[in-house]
Amino acid sequence: INGDLPAPNQDDIPAELLSQVEACLQPFQLSQSRLVDVSHWLRRDLSRGLGKHSHHRAAVKMLPTFVRATPDGTERGDFLALDLGGTNFRVLHVSVGHEEQRVVTMDSQICEVPQDIMLGTGEKLFDHLAQCMSAFLNSKPELQGKTLPLGFTFSFPCEQKEIDKSILIRWTKGFNCDGVEGRDVVQLLREAVLRIGEYDIGSIAMVNDTVGTMMSCGYRDQSCEIGMIIGTGTNACYMEEMRNVKRTEGEDGRMCINTEWGGFGDDGSLQSVLTEFDLVVDRESLNPGVHTFEKMISGMYLGEVVRLVLVRLTQEGLLFGGETSPDLLTQGHFETRYMSDIEQEDVGLAQAQVILTGLGLKAGPVDCRVVRLVCDAISTRSAQLCAAALATLAKRIRTNRGLQRLETTVGVDGTVYKKHPNFSQKLQAAVRVLAPKCHIKFLVSEDGSGKGAAMVTAVAQRLARQSRL
Ligand code: GLC
Repeated sequence: INGDLPAPNQDDIPAELLSQVEACLQPFQLSQSRLVDVSHWLRRDLSRGLGKHSHHRAAVKMLPTFVRATPDGTERGDFLALDLGGTNFRVLHVSVGHEEQRVVTMDSQICEVPQDIMLGTGEKLFDHLAQCMSAFLNSKPELQGKTLPLGFTFSFPCEQKEIDKSILIRWTKGFNCDGVEGRDVVQLLREAVLRIGEYDIGSIAMVNDTVGTMMSCGYRDQSCEIGMIIGTGTNACYMEEMRNVKRTEGEDGRMCINTEWGGFGDDGSLQSVLTEFDLVVDRESLNPGVHTFEKMISGMYLGEVVRLVLVRLTQEGLLFGGETSPDLLTQGHFETRYMSDIEQEDVGLAQAQVILTGLGLKAGPVDCRVVRLVCDAISTRSAQLCAAALATLAKRIRTNRGLQRLETTVGVDGTVYKKHPNFSQKLQAAVRVLAPKCHIKFLVSEDGSGKGAAMVTAVAQRLARQSRL
């Protein structure tokens, strides 16, 4: 299932050590039939999440987005977009379609969201966002006095009642601000803007980053009907038939569904694939019991899984002469980006040496190779689990449409997918095996989560214009 990737060079690891390391990594190895099981479990959960009565308790939330169409390429206009999903908040002025079929960021401003705000009160968070937005607008004389349509990419699970009403179900990815869960994010932003007192905001299109990614890729490639993120968190959205969205009124056409597949397994369905290391990552996280699938896959957690395995191997005397270091023993100190550095084909081992030494470890050449094997096992599992989930969505779209063969495009974003040296190859190879009747093109999104909010607004305007004609 690994396609034609070269196996990592294991020459310099003595046979006995290698077999002990492999024994420790064995639970991370998923056979093809196990991945097929994962795909089946997710298929069942997709239906449960869409069901009229079952969705309340569903682990995979399948949230309606009120986005009913993807771009057709004729959209035009200027928009303001806001983007919150990680440690930064961005305000962007986006232009759609002035230069032939392109979405261009004219200008943007980034404001860091420091840790104390990520974990503080909701009021403080939204004041911070409103101030950042106001500073951007005040620095742009050409935007003053204009009310540009506003899109807000808010990359957390939200129950949407309409496109401009979005209730936060729960925080994920290291955010935990008081007084926001259960509230309408649009309302909270509006109140914060009013507190500044300079202006009011009109209606806002609320968008998840997966939807933004699908929509911005969809402007370039109109067969793009899936959006996928593998970054700090992981998630995907896709175009579902309205007749299957039992939890929302209406039978005609399609609607984009934000799956929130990060929550897959929260009801225990993934128990047989979880390792003891996954259980520790979960227990020590900000949100135990929540987003089980995400914790096996995404950038916020992968480095931590590796760290725990390295601690175990060291304690068993198989690494670093049996000596740990304060950094190795500290949560979060083995960063996910180190995996990308260490798994590079040519310079990986040299980079491993620098990274491990930086963490206060006495790393010899064999240690570096062992650490590379550990990183490879954990990033491979991540790519294959994502592949199983993506294959499930593609197969669902194919069945929905009664097609023998589906040709579709997935818009993808996220640092793990983009920066890791062979993650995307592993993922694509596994999807080909797991969904043989689906031909999937992967389109890497450039800043989809920012531009996508503008695209959603642009498509809504186009639909309104067409319905007037
Ligand atoms: C988390 C969020 C989800 C988002 C994903 C990727 O899983 O819950 O809404 O799309 O991260 O950023």
